[in-house]
Formats: sequence, structure tokens, C-alpha cells
Amino acid sequence: MILLDGKKTSEAIQSEIAAEVADIKKHGGKAPHLAAILVGQDGGSMTYVNNKVLACERVGFDSTLLHYEDTITEEELLNKIKEINQDPNIDGLIVQLPLPKHINGNKVLEVMDYKKDVDGFHPVNVGRMVAGLPAYLPATPYGIMQLLERYNIETKGKHCVVIGRSNIVGTPISILMSKCTIPGESTVTICHRNTVNLPMHTRMADILIVAVGKPGMVTADMVKEGAVVIDVGTTRVPDATRERGWRLRGDVDFENVAPKCSYITPVPGGVGPLTISMLLKNTLKAAKKEVY
Ligand code: GUN
Repeated sequence: MILLDGKKTSEAIQSEIAAEVADIKKHGGKAPHLAAILVGQDGGSMTYVNNKVLACERVGFDSTLLHYEDTITEEELLNKIKEINQDPNIDGLIVQLPLPKHINGNKVLEVMDYKKDVDGFHPVNVGRMVAGLPAYLPATPYGIMQLLERYNIETKGKHCVVIGRSNIVGTPISILMSKCTIPGESTVTICHRNTVNLPMHTRMADILIVAVGKPGMVTADMVKEGAVVIDVGTTRVPDATRERGWRLRGDVDFENVAPKCSYITPVPGGVGPLTISMLLKNTLKAAKKEVY
């Protein structure tokens, strides 16, 4: 069994990005600039956004964090995004999700300039990805593709089973795995809460990708011997032995599943660390006008 080391892969990607940024600056170019919008005080979201800003600093990007109270109106937020759309200094924009209930997330995504949508959530980017056109790929699926590529994992002709159909992970990774690219060329099954006899499907998986948010839901009896298992779950579970009172747990019962696998991602340290690196990669592409 080989551990897919997301931390090491993420560090390698960030070094590559940092070297490229240093080169851009050396030749008199401008640092890529990411703007991040955060609304409200959700602990997880604040940590994620702060980590994104810190990562920008690490690789030499400029960043702007716009943090609003959850009393901001939808109209005020939409106007702020329109301003950023017009700001030639800002290459990429992300709006951390989830948003408060009084703000329509779809409206927020649609008002963004899709050319700055480095999260790849805008319908234009989603549609272009489906059509196989150049687009910003959402960070988590992009990170999974990087892991498969950098570990030379064969995906062509394999049966890939995805559990979860979210817009952020399950749906886009299903599409990418089925595309005629490498990684890709897999036969894909998408499972979700209404799937009948889930273990029957998962036991057929050569590659099993789980993005549900239910700690430990994939047990050893659900996994084929030799499978590649990618665990996207990162749920905070209570842990009195930690000073902060919690730890992250994946969707896979790692202890019992890992011995059956050819490759598996740990949680933490698997897919998680890659998401920030892929966001940086998209922001670099935006600055270089590589996609649009
Ligand atoms: N919330 C959970 N994942 C993400 C992400 O990748 N981007 C943003 N903007 N919000 C998220």
C-alpha cells in the first residue's frame, strides 16, 4: 500500500509556482493577485481563507482579503464583486462558501467575471470543462487529478466509482475522470444518497473517490483488494486529547481500508493540502492569461 502524500505533492507544486513568480518579477512583471471574499464568522471558513492568504504570501502573490459581517446585503455583495471584476490589478477572485442564507450563492457566482473565477464555479467554467474547452478547474478535483498524475496511477479503462455529487467535488471529478485525457479515460459510476446497494457499486471500483462528509462511512467490506482510494472527507470530530478539542476525520475507515489498497490518501495530509495549491495554480494561470 502506497500513501498518496498530498502534503509533499502540495509543497512541490507551490515550489514550482514560487519559482515561476520569482521569474516573472525578475523580468519586471507584476505578481499575481488573488482577492478573497469572506462573509460571516464561520470558524472553518475563516481558517480556510486565512490559509489561502498565507499561501499567497508564501509563493509571492499579492492578496486582498475582504471580510464582511453577515449583515451585508446581497446587493452590497454583488456590487463589491462588480467592482473587483473591473479592477485590472486583481487577477483572481474567490468567494468562500457557504454564504449566509439571505444571500443567493448562484447569483454571486454568476455576477463574477468568469475570467477571474479561479475556483472554477461559474457556469461558464463548468460548461467549458464539460465541453473539454480550456477552463479553470475547481481546486479539489484538480488536486485529485494532480495526485493521480504525479503518482503515475493508471486510470485508462479503469472503473472509477465516485460517492457524492456536489458541484464542488463529486460532479466535476466524475466528468474529469471520464474525459479523453490522462488522467481520465475511466468508466465512471456516480453514487449518492439514493443509490441502492452502495457496497455493490463500490466493490467494483478500481478507483474509489469519496466526497460525502460522513466520517468512516466507507468500510473495508466495501472496497476491492488493490483499489486506489481517494478520501475527500474532512469532518471535524470531537477529540479530547487535542488542545483544540477536535481532529479531522475522512469518509473512509482508514485503519481497516488501507491494508486492502494499492494507493490511499490519508486524512489529514491527502487531498486537503492540494486544494490551496491548485487555487494558486489557477491564479497564476489567470495572471498569465493562460485560460482566457
Ligand atoms: N467552500 C468549500 N470548498 C470551497 C472552495 O474550494 N472554494 C470556496 N470558495 N469555498 C469553498
